[in-house]
Amino acid sequence: MKRIYFDNGSTAFPKAPGVSDAIKALLDNGAFNINRGGYEEAYEISGRVLETRELLCRMFDFDRARNVIFTPSVTYSLNYLIKGFLKPGDHVICSSMEHNAVIRPLVQVQKQGVSFDAAQADERGQLDPERVEALIRPETRAVVMSAASNVCGTFLPLKEVGEICRRRGVMFFVDSAQMAGTFPMSMKELHIDALAFTGHKSLLGPPGIGGMLLSDEVASQTEPLIAGGTGSMSHMEDMPPFLPDRFEAGTMNLIGIIGLHKALTFDRTGMAEHELDITERFLDGLKSVRKARAVGMPGRESRAAIVSVDFEGDDNARVAFELENKYGVMTRVGLHCAPRAHKSLGTFPEGTVRFSFGRANTFDEVDACIEALREIVGA
Ligand SMILES: Cc1ncc(COP(=O)(O)O)c(C=O)c1O
Repeated sequence: MKRIYFDNGSTAFPKAPGVSDAIKALLDNGAFNINRGGYEEAYEISGRVLETRELLCRMFDFDRARNVIFTPSVTYSLNYLIKGFLKPGDHVICSSMEHNAVIRPLVQVQKQGVSFDAAQADERGQLDPERVEALIRPETRAVVMSAASNVCGTFLPLKEVGEICRRRGVMFFVDSAQMAGTFPMSMKELHIDALAFTGHKSLLGPPGIGGMLLSDEVASQTEPLIAGGTGSMSHMEDMPPFLPDRFEAGTMNLIGIIGLHKALTFDRTGMAEHELDITERFLDGLKSVRKARAVGMPGRESRAAIVSVDFEGDDNARVAFELENKYGVMTRVGLHCAPRAHKSLGTFPEGTVRFSFGRANTFDEVDACIEALREIVGA
C-alpha cells in the first residue's frame, strides 16, 4: 500500500535534498568539537556553524549572526526565554491558540510569581490585536505568541501585535514553528525581539536542532538557564558575557546544525504557493465528505497548510485509524498539544484529525485521501 504523509506539521518529510548526505559526511570525516580543538578540521566545522547562523539571519531578516543561539528545539528556546527573561512580579501575554511549548513553561513560571493572560481568539483561530493591547498593564514585560496555529493553521496577527509591543515598550517573542521556512518572516518588519525556531519542520532539517534569534536587549536581560563549558573564557566560573557563548554551554549538536545548514540552502521558491494549492484542493474535496467540518479559516487566505477536521457524529480516532490502517494516510488525531486552541475553536475535548501538508505532497494524494474519507465516513 502506498503511504501518504499528511503529518508535516509534526515534522517535515522528506527533508531538504542533501541533508542526510551532509550529516553522513560530517560523521565520516570527524564531527570535531568546535571551540575546543585548535586544529584545521575543527575550524572548518566552526566556519559552517557560523554560516548556519548567517543563513538563519538571512531567513529571518536579522543582522546579528552572533545573536543566533542554537538549542535542541523551539520548545527549549521558549523555555529559555520564558524562564530566563521573566522574573517574579512580571506579567506576560500569550494568545488562546498557543501550543503547550508556550503554555506549560508559562504555567511553571506562574508558580514562581509571574502572571499571564491569554488573549482570546475566535472560533476560526483569528485574534483581534486589540485584545492583546487591552491586556497590557504596567508590569507586562512580554507578549509570547505563535506565528500560526498548529491545530488549524490560522496565522496570528504578528505585524499588528509587533507594532503594539513596540509602541507600548513590551518585548515580542514569537514561536515560529508552523510558519518558518515556508512563509517569509522578517524580524524587522514584524518588530520581533526574540524568534524561536525548530529545525525539523518547514525548515526541512533534522530533529534535535532549533534555536532562537535574540535582540541585544532581550539577551542582556535573559539568564542563561544552562551553564557549563563553552571553550571560551575558561578561567571564568561564570558564563561568558558575550553571545552566542553565553547561551550555548556544552558540546554543540553539530549533526543537527550541519544538517540544518544544508536545509537552509534549499531553494524555497514556490513552496508556500504549492502547500496552499494542496490545502485548497483538500478543503474543496472535504465538502463532498459527509459531516466533515474543517475548523479554522475556510480558504487559503491567512493560513498555513494545516487543516483540522471534526467528523461530526463519528469518532475522530476511528477515522484516523482507518485512514492509516486501510488507506496508508498518516495524520494526527487528538488535541495536538494545544488544548486552549481547541477550546477557542470549539473542538475541546474531542479534538480533531489534523492533515498537514508539505512541499512534496501532490493533488493525487489529496484526491486519494478524500476518496478514502468518503468510504470511511460516507459521501
Ligand atoms: C506551534 C508549535 N510550537 C511548538 C512546537 C514544538 O516543537 P518542537 O517539538 O520541535 O520543540 C510545535 C510542534 O509541534 C508547534 O507546532
